[in-house]
Amino acid sequence: EKGNHRHFMAKEIYEQPEVVGHTLTQYLDMVAGKVRLPFEAKFDWQALSRLSVSACGTAYYAGLTAKYWFEKLARLPVEIDVASEFRYREAPLPKDGLALFVSQSGETADTLACLRYARQEQQHVLSVVNVTTSTIARESDVVAPTLAGPEIGVASTKAFTCQLTTLACLALAAARARGAITAEDEARHVQNLIALPGLMAKALELEPQIEALARELSKARDVLYLGRGTSFPMALEGALKLKEISYIHAEGYPAGELKHGPIALIDEAMPVIVIAPHDALFEKTASNMQEVAARGGRIILITDARGAAECGITPEATIVMPDMDPLFAPIVYALPIQMIAYQTAVFMGKDVDQPRNLAKSVTVE
Ligand code: F6R
Repeated sequence: EKGNHRHFMAKEIYEQPEVVGHTLTQYLDMVAGKVRLPFEAKFDWQALSRLSVSACGTAYYAGLTAKYWFEKLARLPVEIDVASEFRYREAPLPKDGLALFVSQSGETADTLACLRYARQEQQHVLSVVNVTTSTIARESDVVAPTLAGPEIGVASTKAFTCQLTTLACLALAAARARGAITAEDEARHVQNLIALPGLMAKALELEPQIEALARELSKARDVLYLGRGTSFPMALEGALKLKEISYIHAEGYPAGELKHGPIALIDEAMPVIVIAPHDALFEKTASNMQEVAARGGRIILITDARGAAECGITPEATIVMPDMDPLFAPIVYALPIQMIAYQTAVFMGKDVDQPRNLAKSVTVE
């Protein structure tokens, strides 16, 4: 049921504060200010030398975001690859290693093939899945459910933010088990996670501004998305969402790679969506943005009040997000990114819930 919404995708975008909140209640002891996983980890976080992650599409971008969290918080090196590459690479895996799979459906053929390879190589298998009755869930040693509820829209939205939320909690659990963070740090991170649903609700209020922006974007032939750090996977996700449902060509790039090629594309016709909360990397991204502005590129900046004040240019549009701790900001910044794709596709009259050539669950390779 779509309720008051025109499409399942809109309904699922709006459900995010609730389902992320629900996911958090399963992974946190909110009173104690600690992570509390809803399963028994059958592996020893402390003994791991590396975490190997594989997934496809949006789930891969969730894994890529988590790489930053596991490495920063838990000091655990992460190797991540798209499942269709990993499965044929014959990658050597560490003895007693942990392989992590991320999948909404739990039926994605390439991801499942990686899981079976990992098993054959005697890895512990942990999967972050939304459908807990799925093949991937059944074949895993440990299942970390995402609790997004059924996702009907082909383009993933609420499953993505619930994957991110679950992965953030797993990274914190790993950090504690590995002695990489203090109890005070953990409590502070938990408070920041608890704040997410409220921040997401605020971000949803940006919809009217994004709707106006979408009219402009609908005229573009190509759109570039830029971000650094955890905003880089968000740039990839933004480009994927826009391609999938509006059929506008889009690319996501790490902002620092701009001058290694894509800057050649910049002209007055090229919208460049820059995702840049005012974090430790902001100034670096701002200087990339200034390079784009100097070449006449049309910048749409997604940032917070401080970033808007300190970006050093006048973007064509600025989407001002609420203030938040930067570490888990992607979980909130995902929302304007989804709304941009959604509103653009709706304005163009596309079938957002059933985009051409796509299936919700990709069970063939
Ligand atoms: C994008 C999208 C796809 C899926 C991918 C993996 O909006 O939905 O890229 O994320 O096909 O699917 P799951 O998560 O079911 O393994």
